[in-house]
Amino acid sequence: MLGNFAYCNPTKLYFGEDSLQYLNTELPKYGENVVLVYGGGSIKKNGIYDEVLELLEKNGKKVAEISGVMPNPTLEKLYEGVEIARKHHADLLLAVGGGSVCDYAKAVSVSVHCAEDPWEKYYLKFEEPDCEIVPVGCVLTMVGTGSEMNAGAVITNHESKMKIGHVFADENIMPKFSILNPQYTLTLPQYQMVSGIYDIFNHICEQYFSGEDDNTSDYISEGLMRSLIHASRIANKDTQDYEARSNIMWTATWALNTLVAKAKSTDWMVHMLGQAVGAHTDATHGMTLSAVSLPYYRYIMPYGLAKFKRFAVNVWDVDADGKTDEQTAREGLAAMEAWMKELGLVMNLTELGVTEDMVEGIADSTLVLDGGYKVIEREEIVKILQESL
Ligand code: NZQ
Ligand code: ZN
Repeated sequence: MLGNFAYCNPTKLYFGEDSLQYLNTELPKYGENVVLVYGGGSIKKNGIYDEVLELLEKNGKKVAEISGVMPNPTLEKLYEGVEIARKHHADLLLAVGGGSVCDYAKAVSVSVHCAEDPWEKYYLKFEEPDCEIVPVGCVLTMVGTGSEMNAGAVITNHESKMKIGHVFADENIMPKFSILNPQYTLTLPQYQMVSGIYDIFNHICEQYFSGEDDNTSDYISEGLMRSLIHASRIANKDTQDYEARSNIMWTATWALNTLVAKAKSTDWMVHMLGQAVGAHTDATHGMTLSAVSLPYYRYIMPYGLAKFKRFAVNVWDVDADGKTDEQTAREGLAAMEAWMKELGLVMNLTELGVTEDMVEGIADSTLVLDGGYKVIEREEIVKILQESL
């Protein structure tokens, strides 16, 4: 473990079929004004809304609502929610939904008491909050982003065609508690389930494909990837398999709660490409990643060959005997491709509505980070996007 770091994750997790009852433990810790934050209505159809409301009432809370938080939440929606939370003098923001709802609640939490424009401050200048932060709690219904135990909040600005994620450094922005009931994820459409599975896998890849030292984080990552591949195959055949879905839910949390990033520079370029695609298409997050991943990884493979070989052997059980490192590494990516196709993931940008004439604009919206094996230039981004069509 090279370098110096601090590790603290303050989010308390409650896991399992009975975990919602722990709202009775958590709610009394906060004032009476709760803002319930949710999406387009799935929680009303599957009954989670009624269960949560009953517990809020039982705990004597005054409840206001921010409903209709859309996938890839927008800046306009953020402004709207901030007003509701201000009017209600929110003591707690309770997010009930997927990553979009949890991210959104965090973005509201740092904006309610902020005098400046949140887009400008948090998403363009990447500043940390210097105001009071409204506490956030989550009841997770869609698995993938890890938002339930991290300080990330992704907001989309359609006007400027920018989808930007701010992973706040301040651990006070992480949810105070998150309720993880795998049962709640069973009503997800299969498209969302597999998209979430790939999101998890890619979060691990983004952190794993960096650095050359011998690092415990990489061994943890390999274990998480193996568990995910195993459980995903079961869940893809039977979406109602609780055991598989519960393992996927737990893996998602550990894939992006800062643990496996420790002592790693981390890459995140698949996410930068995916977010740029999202800004132009509003496509489902995990599918934007699956569409660009293989062209990206095949492109950078020569620059991180030793790690790609290790990935092939330790994650995909490729037999390296009698093969060059490059052959082994390529077989690993081929095994990954076969698994992605087996899950039914989107494998190209065309399927997400991207056309050749959009490539330059998407390249303009792509932020370049330098933690991976190769810092890519604009022409390389264009090439990778073209190959993803
Ligand atoms: O809005 P409702 O009606 O609730 O429907 C949602 C939504 O349409 C539906 N859904 C959720 N739970 C369900 C359900 N449908 C049936 N049954 C259930 N139990 O699923 C759809 C997608 O939900 P969403 O929250 O958008 O998905 P996801 O969890 O993938 O979140 C995506 C957002 O998170 C950001 C993405 O960029 C995107 O904006 N990310 C956040 C990260 C973080 N905080 O660290 C990292 C990620 O890389 C990602 O960028
Ligand atoms: Zn992601």
